[in-house]
Amino acid sequence: MALSASIVVQGGNPLQGAVAIGGAKNSAVAAMAAAALAEGETVLENMPEDTDVEVMARILTHLGCRVVRHHRRVRVDGRGLRARRPPDELARRLRASFYITGVLLGRLGEAEVPLPGGCPLGSRPVDFHLEGFRRLGAQVDLIHGCVRVRARRLVGTEIYINRASVGTTINLMLAATLAHGTTVLVNAAREPEVVDTAVLLGAMGARVQGAGTDVIRIDGVRKLEGARHAIIPDRIEAGTFLAAVGLCGGEVRLLNVVPCHLHAVIAKLREAGVEIEWGDGWLVARRRGPLRPTDLVTSPFPGFPTDLHPPFAALLAAAPGVSVIRETIFDRFQYVDELRRLGADLKVEGEAVVIRGGRRLTGAVVEATDLRAGAALVLAGLAAAGVTEVRGAELLDRGYEHLERKLAAVGARIRRQKAAPAGPETPPPKARSQAGAGSLAVASTYKK
Ligand code: EPU
Repeated sequence: MALSASIVVQGGNPLQGAVAIGGAKNSAVAAMAAAALAEGETVLENMPEDTDVEVMARILTHLGCRVVRHHRRVRVDGRGLRARRPPDELARRLRASFYITGVLLGRLGEAEVPLPGGCPLGSRPVDFHLEGFRRLGAQVDLIHGCVRVRARRLVGTEIYINRASVGTTINLMLAATLAHGTTVLVNAAREPEVVDTAVLLGAMGARVQGAGTDVIRIDGVRKLEGARHAIIPDRIEAGTFLAAVGLCGGEVRLLNVVPCHLHAVIAKLREAGVEIEWGDGWLVARRRGPLRPTDLVTSPFPGFPTDLHPPFAALLAAAPGVSVIRETIFDRFQYVDELRRLGADLKVEGEAVVIRGGRRLTGAVVEATDLRAGAALVLAGLAAAGVTEVRGAELLDRGYEHLERKLAAVGARIRRQKAAPAGPETPPPKARSQAGAGSLAVASTYKK
């Protein structure tokens, strides 16, 4: 993808105010796929206004669904689902496009889906998904870069997932809802996004039990109906804002959050010297004293989420002393070289990054290598002296809803800039005073 926009930040401002967190990106794309299983209209509320949702809408439209987006509400009508193959160009743009395989297999008994794309986080195979489809009785072939799956009717069975994979758990849950008999997923992922998808499927008439534990039981039904469902808040967006407060200092209240999705994150923030208070649906982060170093290990939920590894590396780069982040899910160290351009002292050692924090950070031109790497660079820029230009704003738009608007509203000096041939010259403007709470007018009916 050609990178044509940058986010430009001027470091040094503490953050102050309130931010409304959007709906969870990874739940939203799964919910849209789930909605296509129904022979009726599903209304999804609290949808994030990011580009992954946009791409998923286009894919579903191409397959024959009717998708209408209005503000944070997306309607998906699955009645017209006919086509069996999403367009290559769209499927390659996001990992969640592969959920279409489970949907089409369940509903039409056949699918031809290009191997998915998504953020470059090392090798991201789909072998667990394919093994699961085989166990459900599908014939699975890989032809010309496409996965072709076929089954007269899927038949439920017990499936052991080799590793608690979020994508595999969701894809197999989608397929199994319309299978004949009972499917039991063992070693299922326990992420809140899996639970959210199961709740939606339940509202559509599916019989799913155990989501949120590592054994999920799905009793197949013949047909699913449309439903109405509100997507859970995005715990990764929330964690990114919390890390930002840690880096910049100040006090920010997050609204529309589920604090119990963030236990590991809250624990690590407290160790790092950030005060956290929380209640039902809100969370306040405050930092007045110095940051402290801490170690963390990424692991499946309820462990520390891999998607917050890069933002927390930025945070710990500002904490005097040595911190170590051990990454156990993905190969995601591409951000390290870019963070070094700002003066951070990080070194990759095997599957860990050793951070010697407390060095003075100074603004520079850097490039987002993926969505969360981009967030880490924006955060580090907010704490750096001078101006930082983060190229590749489009990558941030995949999973952060108007990041610069929300940060500006809590006092960050930040703006978006179209392709900048030379380095940043004009410092970003002063911030507005209210964040993310207003609805952002987007209305579209997608056309094939
Ligand atoms: N894996 C396999 N084979 C498979 C599937 C997964 O080897 O068939 C491996 C992966 O390579 C990885 C591990 O299993 O090492 C776990 O991967 P998982 O399947 O859980 O990840 P995913 O479903 O591809 C989702 C999120 C990611 C998030 C991970 C982990 C979506 C669309 N993506 O990916 O989100 O990092 O779970 O929590 O839900 C992001 O939002 O920036 C992002 C990358």
